[in-house]
Amino acid sequence: MTIRHRVALVTGGSRGIGKGIAMSLGRAGARVALSYRSNKTAAQNTLRQLQALGCECFAIEADATDPAQAESLVGSVTEKFGRLDLLVNNVGAFNWGTVAETTVEEWRRVLDSNLLSVFCVSRAALPAMRRQRWGRIINLGAVGAERAFGQATISAYAAAKAAVVAFSRSLALEEAKNGITVNVVNPPNIDDKELSAEEARRMRDARFPVGRPPSADDVAEAVKFLASDSADYVTGQVLSVSGGWMM
Ligand SMILES: NC(=O)c1ccc[n+]([C@@H]2O[C@H](COP(=O)([O-])OP(=O)(O)OC[C@H]3O[C@@H](n4cnc5c(N)ncnc54)[C@H](OP(=O)(O)O)[C@@H]3O)[C@@H](O)[C@H]2O)c1
Repeated sequence: MTIRHRVALVTGGSRGIGKGIAMSLGRAGARVALSYRSNKTAAQNTLRQLQALGCECFAIEADATDPAQAESLVGSVTEKFGRLDLLVNNVGAFNWGTVAETTVEEWRRVLDSNLLSVFCVSRAALPAMRRQRWGRIINLGAVGAERAFGQATISAYAAAKAAVVAFSRSLALEEAKNGITVNVVNPPNIDDKELSAEEARRMRDARFPVGRPPSADDVAEAVKFLASDSADYVTGQVLSVSGGWMM
């Protein structure tokens, strides 16, 4: 798959799944820009690991939900690398809470983090990708987002991820003629932060028919495929990396 020399921007690429994606693209020979919100130490650690792979890379502090910062984020990438081929919109905060207990501020935080960020950074990336007549936008959803899944206590997150799918399909239709594809990768729950190790193991064994828990690398492999020339004819699609969970 041809990723070598492509220029990639991974939002929230300093840790978690975003880091896995940045590392995978770097390993495949892409030049990588990663963004983060405030944790410079995590970003520097990831940069060091990328550099150890021989990857040309840099990190930018930018709030992906702020339109002006999204514009200057993309501007930094095109200034440094001369182009932008692959945009991975990875930022997307999670929250627990029933509708009855969710404040307007919390609702806005989750919707902005998952949805406004995707709009702001995608919109900022379009001029460069249109000029090149080539671009890949890959948005992170969550397993079940393509059918607007519902689950008690995650209404804001579920609504935002379903909207990311609708947004991605609309953008895919708008930009197909410009050589830009837009797809969604749906990860499953990768880090059961609130469970004990034993509980997490039991849940995963029961949940994932393939018989092993998922990793950020599994998600990164799907992103890498959609970012490659092999996926030229794939747009407006949702690829779930779920080990067979929730079909
Ligand atoms: N983890 C899972 O189990 C899971 C499951 C399904 C879907 N997903 C989706 O996969 C994606 C990655 O999830 P994750 O759990 O790996 O995320 P995460 O660990 O929470 O990602 C954190 C990264 O995003 C950055 N970030 C957060 N808010 C930002 C903002 N407003 N502007 C710029 N950067 C921001 C962080 O920067 P700082 O470190 O500076 O704060 C950090 O780089 C998300 O879209 C998530 O919804 C995750």
